[in-house]
Amino acid sequence: MTGPFFFTVFGEPGTKRPDHDEIFYSGWQSPSNIAIVKYWGKKEDQLPVNPSLSMTLNLAVTRTSLTAVCDEIRPGLVAVNGDHDHPFIPKMQGLLNRLVSEIPCLGLLSFQAETSNTFPHSTGIASSASGISAFALCLLDIACNIMKVELPPDEWRQAVSIVSRLGSGSACRSVFGGFAVWGTSPLLPGSSDEFAVSVNSRVHPAFTSLHDAILVVSAKQKEMPSTKGHQSMNTHPFLPGRILQANRNLGDVLHALSVNDFEQLCQVAENEALSLHALIMSANPPVILMQPATLEIIRRVREARKSGLPLFFTLDAGANVHILYPAEAAPEVEKFIREELSGFCENGRVIFDSCGAGPVRLTANEAIFPG
Ligand code: DP6
Repeated sequence: MTGPFFFTVFGEPGTKRPDHDEIFYSGWQSPSNIAIVKYWGKKEDQLPVNPSLSMTLNLAVTRTSLTAVCDEIRPGLVAVNGDHDHPFIPKMQGLLNRLVSEIPCLGLLSFQAETSNTFPHSTGIASSASGISAFALCLLDIACNIMKVELPPDEWRQAVSIVSRLGSGSACRSVFGGFAVWGTSPLLPGSSDEFAVSVNSRVHPAFTSLHDAILVVSAKQKEMPSTKGHQSMNTHPFLPGRILQANRNLGDVLHALSVNDFEQLCQVAENEALSLHALIMSANPPVILMQPATLEIIRRVREARKSGLPLFFTLDAGANVHILYPAEAAPEVEKFIREELSGFCENGRVIFDSCGAGPVRLTANEAIFPG
């Protein structure tokens, strides 16, 4: 159901065409995000079965630049980092194809992308939220340029969020700095299954500097791609209960964030992380993504909280652990992580990040170094 939106923004498809000798350029930096209420399961055209809430990261970003020229004989994404067979091409081309059906002028162009992540490849950090949102920003920027459309900031972010979602669900939340919700919730007027919305106006200032330390238990490629995991929810016996739980947890997280109730945030965030893995372990086929080190880190985080350290954990669909804590507790929490937890990580690797401000436009001079 993206058609009417893009029709409103760009008008009649096929009414504008790129000039033959023009070179189009766009560059964007876009962050990854960590979900506190998890998106797990989808329906119809890449829509979520439940609403999710995430915090956008600051340092874990993808930088992408896109150059396009008119080429009706060889349209599409022809190279990434100069490589015509780059492994990112199928997913990016899939999103481009999807967008061409809404904005046909993009189908007349040949694109080349340069892209790199600030976080090392071998850390197991999901790059699809940052990578797909950075690509969506560039694509839509070029579309606006050709169609001579200038969108007001709110409409621009909404359009980018829709396009990002079509490429990867979690990517639609990265378009916003701070905290964002994707998925319709009766608690949030204006929320939608088609795009994410910012909830920063409801978040107590204490949380806007929340830190996130990513403990790299395993840097291996995911044993189960997210797309397969989402699919497994279609026939999962716990699906109805999960939808109720996620909606209730979203309400509790929004409440905790607005009244600065750190204890409530800890309880709900950890319940979400463990529920995600419980769903994965009880799916058909069942998958176990946690490793012994994951469980030991979780145990120690809970012990440390009991003895007064303000911190909680969350997990993606993998073995790595995210530990979140307030900025003012950073010295003591980071000492605890270095001394007591980093030994459970692959090569002792911990990536220290925090809540970030969202995507940034890059000028043509800001070089992208393929990583
Ligand atoms: C566990 O966004 O990677 O990280 O839409 O198929 O690209 P696709 O899936 P993806 O799923 C992310 C799942 C999660 C939870 C979350 O980020 O909300």
